[in-house]
Amino acid sequence: MRVLMILLLLPVPLLAGISGCDDLAAIPETPQVDFSLEIQPIFDDNCVVCHGGPNPIADMNLELGYEQLVSIPSFQIPGLNRIEPNLPSMSYLFFKINCSNQLSGDRMPRDADPLNVFDQALIRDWINQMIIFSDGFEE
Ligand code: HEC
Repeated sequence: MRVLMILLLLPVPLLAGISGCDDLAAIPETPQVDFSLEIQPIFDDNCVVCHGGPNPIADMNLELGYEQLVSIPSFQIPGLNRIEPNLPSMSYLFFKINCSNQLSGDRMPRDADPLNVFDQALIRDWINQMIIFSDGFEE
């Protein structure tokens, strides 16, 4: 329990515990990633079977666009947000799809092959490019 408390308070060292991540450095940035056209279809094809409907797993519905993702603490590691705008390296969802060795649970999509590196890089670029307006997110 004491270890858990320390981990929750220190998200940066915490992330050092995640390993086995696919190296995306060689994949060039896709400019102006469009959430509806490029990211939501990845969620629809690979995630919403579990993270959708009235009782989504981990209390995270990926059919709702940004709503339950951006700046929302993760269920498993509340010290980390699911998506941290402009910081894939601090976004729990990104680690869940990018890395084999997880702090909690399995790599996503669960019970399936990992997302291909191009889809992983699109999610990276979407997070990097996110623009937050005072009334919400760029869609
Ligand atoms: C077959 C069911 C299944 C599929 C498909 C699936 N997940 Fe999950 N997901 C789970 C389960 C079960 C958990 C909790 C246990 C775990 O992490 O292994 C979870 C947990 C998560 C979490 C942690 C949420 C939090 O707030 O702590 C994230 C992020 C996540 N999944 C993202 C995804 C993404 C992105 C996809 C698609 C690329 C996906 N999952 C596909 C079953 C699934």
